[in-house]
Amino acid sequence: MIFKGKRILLGVSGGIACYKAVELARRLVTSGAQVKVVMTRGAQEFVTPLTFAAVTGQTVGTSLFGQGIHPLEHIWLGQQVDALILAPATANLIGKVAAGIGDDLLTTILLAATRPVLLCPAMNCEMYANPVVQENLTRLEQRGMTVLRPAAGPLACGAVGYGRLPEVEDILAVASRLVSPQDLAGRRILVTAGPTHEDLDPVRFLTNRSSGKMGYAVARAAWRRGAEVTLVSGPTALPAPYGVEVVRVRSALEMREALQGHFPTADALIMAAAVSDYRPESPAPKKVKRRTPSQELRLVQNPDIIQELAAHRTRQVLIGFAAETGDLLAEARRKLEAKNLDLIVANEVNRPDSGFAVDTNEVTLIPRGGEPVALPLLSKDEVAQRLLDWLAEYWSGAREESRG
Ligand code: CTP
Repeated sequence: MIFKGKRILLGVSGGIACYKAVELARRLVTSGAQVKVVMTRGAQEFVTPLTFAAVTGQTVGTSLFGQGIHPLEHIWLGQQVDALILAPATANLIGKVAAGIGDDLLTTILLAATRPVLLCPAMNCEMYANPVVQENLTRLEQRGMTVLRPAAGPLACGAVGYGRLPEVEDILAVASRLVSPQDLAGRRILVTAGPTHEDLDPVRFLTNRSSGKMGYAVARAAWRRGAEVTLVSGPTALPAPYGVEVVRVRSALEMREALQGHFPTADALIMAAAVSDYRPESPAPKKVKRRTPSQELRLVQNPDIIQELAAHRTRQVLIGFAAETGDLLAEARRKLEAKNLDLIVANEVNRPDSGFAVDTNEVTLIPRGGEPVALPLLSKDEVAQRLLDWLAEYWSGAREESRG
């Protein structure tokens, strides 16, 4: 529920991407937001207000004047929400906002708005490339609006180019950053996620059941709270989180190399990856054939990456995960000490609703020298938030101490 308790004004102007704004409204609602939609006249040619009203459960603003419309609605609406999202924003809407024109409900709200605005242009690629549109967008960015530039691809007009409304997922990510406290701004956070693949031969490998969901949720949440995030990811089926630099690796040795490169400039490492402890001693250069009734497989130990990095830490805060199927707290504490970490997330992984490949997790946060905090069963997004709450508090505590 990344928009829990947030109020969003969704301004919709008239382009074919209006149909995608319906999905955006729905996703905002299912992510916890209260959504007030305001449509231009053009937008109502593409989608009816009834559609948005049904999806959001709120009346849709379509006009400055009329029965039942409060005379000051156009002032309040842009001031009482947490953020305004304009999606799709047509060249016409962008031009009017840049020129300070208020000739309908949406443009008048924007003139009086005091809250952050996210503008998502969508139009034909030639229209988007037009210098006047580009100048208007730059001007609006300079005035503090956030512009999510359109994606490239096939457009409704048949052309291929820049002009598509960005993916709903990306709009949600940028909007969520606008409404989140930026308590990790200025911090570089390195996150790992997913399993590793340890090759047996060119077609087979050893791996584990990690899906990467927990680490990806941490990376998304850290970016949302203002951090600069690098995600070193083992093989997963997950899309790259918006705004996050993703470094893709396969094996434990590749993950170690990528981390050695990024660790010196990081302020924290959050190691959610399920790194394979062993790898085949000598992977076969060619596919192993089915010639003998049995095969011997000799494994050698992989380096303990987080433990190695802990030995070279300067200022970095180190957070590990302990995936356990028994003796949860004792094992997690042992790893916290042995690996010299600041916090370990003790994670029961042999339950159907917690651990690998599901969207929920039940964990205990064990800080070095502090009391364990047992969290209830939460979504992985919420676990990520709680973990980052700990990190933000740790840093603000460290600042206090260095002042004192
Ligand atoms: N880890 C690591 N390098 C490894 C193995 C694990 O950096 N070769 C990290 C994991 O990413 C995790 C923490 O160490 O943050 C604990 O991982 P876990 O698999 O629970 O512990 P192990 O040390 O591998 O111990 P065991 O498998 O015996 O439980």
